[in-house]
Amino acid sequence: MIKIGLIGAGFMGGTHSACYESLLGNGYFKVTAVADPDFDKADKISVKFGAKVYATGKELIEKGDVNTIDICLPTYLHTEHALSAMEKGYNVFIEKPVCLHEDEAGKLLEMKKKTGTKVAVGHCIRFWPEYAYLKKLVEDETYGKLISGVFKRISPRPMWGWDQWLLQGERSGSAALDLHIHDVDYVRYILGIPVNIKGEISSINGNNEHIFSLYKYEKAVVSIEGGWDYPSCMPFEMEYRVRFDKATVVFNSGRTPSLMLYNEDGTVTQPVLQQEFDSESEGLGGNLSSLGGYYNEIKYFLQCLNNGDEIKIAPLEEGIESLRLTMREIKTAEK
Ligand SMILES: NC(=O)c1ccc[n+]([C@@H]2O[C@H](COP(=O)([O-])OP(=O)(O)OC[C@H]3O[C@@H](n4cnc5c(N)ncnc54)[C@H](O)[C@@H]3O)[C@@H](O)[C@H]2O)c1
Repeated sequence: MIKIGLIGAGFMGGTHSACYESLLGNGYFKVTAVADPDFDKADKISVKFGAKVYATGKELIEKGDVNTIDICLPTYLHTEHALSAMEKGYNVFIEKPVCLHEDEAGKLLEMKKKTGTKVAVGHCIRFWPEYAYLKKLVEDETYGKLISGVFKRISPRPMWGWDQWLLQGERSGSAALDLHIHDVDYVRYILGIPVNIKGEISSINGNNEHIFSLYKYEKAVVSIEGGWDYPSCMPFEMEYRVRFDKATVVFNSGRTPSLMLYNEDGTVTQPVLQQEFDSESEGLGGNLSSLGGYYNEIKYFLQCLNNGDEIKIAPLEEGIESLRLTMREIKTAEK
């Protein structure tokens, strides 16, 4: 039986808990412990599962009846908790970005090697239906080769974080490492490491709150924009526009229909995707209206553990490569 200890009962803790709730019928896992210094938040989740509440993540790892740890903590706390959990031999899910510094990445990789535990990173865009669809178009060359791509993720400042940790660059990595890394990871996932990178930062307050980057591949060019310096009244938006030889595919999370295919022969089609789980979930908070790829990634993680399979889609090593690529971008932008 997979026994999960969920650490951090904020926005992502609540989202993961909604995923676990939807998957409970599978019968091969339980959420046995929840930790958060805010007892009410932890309790609200724990009652759904009959789980025990702990005041801190460290206490849960030490004393909980668990064998799997799900880390939904502010990013600067990821590494110390992941190391403690792995040392105990527990499998771990770490929210993205996996960590903030190269020395942390080294310690995590070393501990994984030493303990042989399974570690997944929450690069949920890899599991988002519209992005999984695009990856398949690239792989199958359904409309020929990818020629160019524009990826965008914009948002008002994230004000929901505990103790305003998201607004402090040294605790969150700011928009470049917290928000933009979603698309950096995804572009690397479908196209690999670019041959050349250019980055530019537009900064209002000295934090990396808005980053623009240009990736040059041998036969393709991709631009990526990520920023959270917009007014609070502006909606969150994620978007891509990808031009293939024979068609252009456009996705925008704020539009209906959100996904369109413009064919070179002048016809327009609206791809219909199989949504395994797409219920509108009340009260998720943050910038969420549905469980989208979160449900798919949690289900995948649990299935890998249950079947004893290697985590292939977003393992620790992949989270670290995407962290390194984003840090490279920030460096080129700061030059
Ligand atoms: N995958 C995504 O799309 C996505 C979206 C948002 C956030 N995230 C990531 O998820 C992580 C959590 O972000 P969030 O938005 O949920 O933050 P949050 O501030 O909403 O929640 C963090 C929670 O951790 C708790 N906490 C603090 N110290 C603790 C400790 N020592 N032990 C136990 N609990 C503790 C806080 O009380 C708070 O409830 C971050 O790494 C963030 O980057 C990922």
